[in-house]
Amino acid sequence: MPAGGFSVSAPAGVEFEAKITPIVIISCIMAATGGLMFGYDVGISGGVTSMDDFLIEFFPTVYRKKHEDKESNYCKYDNQGLQLFTSSLYLAGLTATFFASYTTRNLGRRLTMLIAGVFFIIGVIFNGAAQNLAMLIVGRILLGCGVGFANQAVPLFLSEIAPTRIRGGLNILFQLNVTIGILFANLINYGTSKIHPWGWRLSLSLAGIPALLLTLGALFVTDTPNSLIERGHLEEGKRVLKKIRGTENVDPEFNEIVEASRIAHEVKHPFRNLLLRRNRPQLVIAVLLQIFQQFTGINAIMFYAPVLFNTLGFKSDASLYSAVITGAVNVLSTLVSVYSVDKVGRRLLLLEAGVQMFFSQAIIAVILGIKVTDHSDNLSHGWAIIVVVLVCTFVSSFAWSWGPLGWLIPSETFPLETRSAGQSVTVCVNLLFTFVIAQAFLSMLCHMKYGIFAFFSGWVLIMSVFVLFLLPETKNVPIEEMTERVWKQHWFWKRFVDDDEHTLNGDAEKNGKISNVKHGI
Ligand code: BGC
Repeated sequence: MPAGGFSVSAPAGVEFEAKITPIVIISCIMAATGGLMFGYDVGISGGVTSMDDFLIEFFPTVYRKKHEDKESNYCKYDNQGLQLFTSSLYLAGLTATFFASYTTRNLGRRLTMLIAGVFFIIGVIFNGAAQNLAMLIVGRILLGCGVGFANQAVPLFLSEIAPTRIRGGLNILFQLNVTIGILFANLINYGTSKIHPWGWRLSLSLAGIPALLLTLGALFVTDTPNSLIERGHLEEGKRVLKKIRGTENVDPEFNEIVEASRIAHEVKHPFRNLLLRRNRPQLVIAVLLQIFQQFTGINAIMFYAPVLFNTLGFKSDASLYSAVITGAVNVLSTLVSVYSVDKVGRRLLLLEAGVQMFFSQAIIAVILGIKVTDHSDNLSHGWAIIVVVLVCTFVSSFAWSWGPLGWLIPSETFPLETRSAGQSVTVCVNLLFTFVIAQAFLSMLCHMKYGIFAFFSGWVLIMSVFVLFLLPETKNVPIEEMTERVWKQHWFWKRFVDDDEHTLNGDAEKNGKISNVKHGI
């Protein structure tokens, strides 16, 4: 997951002295809890909304529709309130991102994580104890605020605390933990659906465990040296740097952080900078990658898999069980990305996945088109298995491509002076389109029926053509050499960087001085 902020590395080829100290290991555990928390929230709502006990309590009309024969198969769950239960989290999350970028900068990463943890805990209490729809939605909104703060601060904290050589890996580790969180949520829903009538309360309350861990973690860890130095605590920053690197010899890294934060303070208008013509390629790519990532349709599956399988005629148990399978495929396939992203490159993974996702969804559309009519009986056992397999081939290709790369590519292409602002925009656009899918999917399913899968496969085609012609390969290119080696060489994007030298402002002139300073993840 993404974040903006400042971290430094040695000039090309030079490594600062750094051991993997206990504090770095604790940071990995933090990443686990932050990522798990987000994943758990993504995965939990779909299973809960397919549970009858939950529907009877909060959505009696949906419950009646679900069990009435006269309602179209595709429309059983079409209810704005039900979708709001899932989507409100993302709306709150994207609003919180703006406040989070202020607190991460001015109060520090640690305090921002603490704020996130507190939001999570209160949100979990509201959800677990919910007596009415309002409490349920307020709980989701509070969890969303937690997501906004945590997703900004945790990856940033990690990228700054980790030695340079494991920073990239930690970036994908966060995404891996998101997928593990989703899988846990699916497993827990599978178990709690058998506990009547309060199993759903347990599902929602168990989010308290990662929430508590994140809060305790934030209480005990130290803030990052970068954040301390950025806020003027130079001595403390140096002391912490020695502690986390496990060595007294930290002067080169310390000096770079001081220089990076000096320059950061001089960049007065990062958001305005982002709009300059020479930053157009990165901005356009970051925004489009987020929109495309969501229009693969992944969250239709992640949020609503149990509901979707139920719609296709699976019994409740089989629906939740199938969601566990897709969740597991998601985790395992993310590992493929960890291993191959720096070997085969970003483009190949995205293009291969494009083909796989296109065919999986197109075939699902055809099968449903023929087999699931408005009032038909359930899919036969054989066809049901084929649909689950196709959903798995779709999820696996997403998990080794658009899932992690949607976040990784923006985080490695923005230049120093716009990286922080660029990452905020990335997070916001992502959460905005996640919200759109969460709020619209069940209604789209009702109106477009099996055509919804054809719709998503059409998008996959568009995004693959975009990757083919307009997304440059960034594998093994040091961040500070992106402009020279990537953008200036690209047949299309070079027009934005080449002819723009004379419009560079004061911020850019400083680029020369900071060419060996990396900013962000
Ligand atoms: C996406 C999420 C999605 C998750 C699924 C992430 O990269 O941003 O929206 O739920 O992958 O694993």
